[in-house]
Amino acid sequence: MTTTAHDEAVPHPLDEEAVDARVRDALSSFDAASDLDELKAARLAHTGDRAPIVLANRRIGSLAKEDKAAAGKLLGRARGQVQKALAARTEVLEAEHAERLLVEETVDVTAAPRRRRIGARHPLSVLQERVSDVFTAMGWEIAEGPEVESEWFNFDALNIAPDHPSREMQDTFFVEPPDAHLVLRTHTSPVQVRSLLERELPVYVLCPGRTFRTDELDATHTPVFHQFEGLAVDEGLTMADLKGTLEHFARKMFGPEAAIRLRPAYFPFTEPSAEMDIWHPDAKGGPQWIEWGGCGMVHPNVLRAAGADPDRYTGFAFGMGVERTLMFRNGVPDMRDMIEGDVRFSQRFGMEV
Ligand code: DAH
Repeated sequence: MTTTAHDEAVPHPLDEEAVDARVRDALSSFDAASDLDELKAARLAHTGDRAPIVLANRRIGSLAKEDKAAAGKLLGRARGQVQKALAARTEVLEAEHAERLLVEETVDVTAAPRRRRIGARHPLSVLQERVSDVFTAMGWEIAEGPEVESEWFNFDALNIAPDHPSREMQDTFFVEPPDAHLVLRTHTSPVQVRSLLERELPVYVLCPGRTFRTDELDATHTPVFHQFEGLAVDEGLTMADLKGTLEHFARKMFGPEAAIRLRPAYFPFTEPSAEMDIWHPDAKGGPQWIEWGGCGMVHPNVLRAAGADPDRYTGFAFGMGVERTLMFRNGVPDMRDMIEGDVRFSQRFGMEV
């Protein structure tokens, strides 16, 4: 067997001084261990298979018979001291470790939370819902129609003559092929006719939706925009009902001081027709009249196209732009902000428009 450097440190099993020296080595290296990892290394060095005292203990077997008891006693005491010191140091370091964990893993409940940016609903959607709420609160229903609409619903059924300028290419997106006679609806008015055909009379519906015109995008125009359309058809409805409804609507949207006024106008699908202005008490440039939309009494030809008897039923209708409403109601100077989808624009409105 070759003698290693390690073996040289192994004391003779009867050499009390040498054994004590190894015990002191062990005790001081346990003391020097500043954490459990260091203590583990010290434990392996002083109590492991290759530790001097362990190796010395193993040599007892080769001693003379009369020496064995003394050596056994000496090394037993030495190993006992080492084990005891190890246990004591382990206890101390484990307690320190537990304490450190408690400190390191402390949760500061007063710390400011890391904010995660959440999105916001688009103000156009919020505004459309707000308008819908005003009407459903009066018992009206919400009606919808397709965005790709037949020319007949978009124009003919609304009493718009075949040569009416709004049919021309510069206003209307026509859908290929031309003989399908489909367009991207240029207004929400075709939903008037669809609602009358689909429902039993009387009909009270609000139709919010997306509309399309071949406009260039700029601060006040966008080729894709939104409207809401109102339609009431019943027995005995008059222009007074139209005015009362619009007045209530205006106050719900612009406060109790809001008012409306009607100016004579022309639309093919209403007779008489009017442009509606709103008195906006909180307008950006101070209280003022602002043009808001079109309205009128439903033209008998529209009632006929929708299968309603104009001798028995009358109706009123109105239509407004949602983007335009958002502009003057909430002081948005540029329509392009509404379509760019920058969440900071939506967040400016919070959840309330
Ligand atoms: N459809 C019209 C437009 O887009 C707005 C309109 C005017 C709707 C008069 C109506 C109405 O219901 O009665 O310009």
